[in-house]
Amino acid sequence: LREEALQALERAQTSADLAAWRSTYLGKKGKLSQVLRGMGNLSPEERPIVGRLANDIKETLEQAYTERAEAVRQAELAAHLAADAVDVTLPGRRPPLGRLHPSTQVMREIERIFADLGFQVYASREVELDEYNFQLLNIPPHHPAREMQDTFYIERSPDENDVLLRTHTSPGQIHAMREFAAMNPDNPPPVRIMLPGMVYRHEQITPRSDIQFQQVEGLAIGHHITMADLKGTIEYFVRRLFGPERRLRFRASYFPFTEPSAEVDMDCLLCGGEGCRLCKGTGWLEIMGCGMVHPTVLRNGGYDPERYTGYAFGMGPARITMLKYGIEDIRYFWQNDLRFLEQF
Ligand code: PHE
Repeated sequence: LREEALQALERAQTSADLAAWRSTYLGKKGKLSQVLRGMGNLSPEERPIVGRLANDIKETLEQAYTERAEAVRQAELAAHLAADAVDVTLPGRRPPLGRLHPSTQVMREIERIFADLGFQVYASREVELDEYNFQLLNIPPHHPAREMQDTFYIERSPDENDVLLRTHTSPGQIHAMREFAAMNPDNPPPVRIMLPGMVYRHEQITPRSDIQFQQVEGLAIGHHITMADLKGTIEYFVRRLFGPERRLRFRASYFPFTEPSAEVDMDCLLCGGEGCRLCKGTGWLEIMGCGMVHPTVLRNGGYDPERYTGYAFGMGPARITMLKYGIEDIRYFWQNDLRFLEQF
């Protein structure tokens, strides 16, 4: 029995093996206990001899067990340490970092360029009254220009002053002008502001149009501001954003809140005017709307149109971003797919 037990103990590699060995040989129902229980059948002369022998074996086994257990414990500890070893000479792993959304990046670039020209950012609300979004901008109820901007209504009101989600950043013009004019009603100060923010339109979602998108609008008001100032400013801006070789075209257009109005086209980034898929063969890309602030709008803002003139322009950073990076579908901007966002 002793030889068998000692051999089995040698084969025990883990603490689980050891526990099993212990219960097999030294446990209450183990092999040694069986021998001791069988002593009742022995003669009185044999009992002390066998008893002593059994006790010897028990002691030997207990001691062998203790030694083996210590060896196994050491081996297990060593294996554990080896498995958990940290190689402090390895370079660290970078935790994944977030980043700014591509249109936020472009929005900031736009704001940066106009900041250099003396424009300050003016924040205004996304939930508007019909009055600010339309009427004070020279778009009375039932004006056909409302069809250019299908609207999400929050609350209809009987007096035609519904609560709605702004369809453009232009209502900020009125808020800003009124706040500035209130500082000095007889001689309102000049205005140079940027109006960035989210706008909403109740439209079909397509690769070219979404129901929610950012706009950024510029407004400059002062004495003797002319269309030439508008053109020069826009040209400077576009060349800083898209490169000094860009050519521009101001195309006559219509907005109720500017007169005259224009849309600005830039020569195509891909083909430089030859005509390609990006510009649909025309050689030109439309990038913004602009014009001289309508006298009615100036008056609604508290600025006397006999003494002040101004210009305004508005663009969609998503569209600018699409052109800058060659993105083909505006819907990527709000899908928040990391495979898209991580490219910028
Ligand atoms: N508000 C116009 C739009 O959303 C853009 C614009 C702004 C045009 C300012 C002229 C002047 O389409």
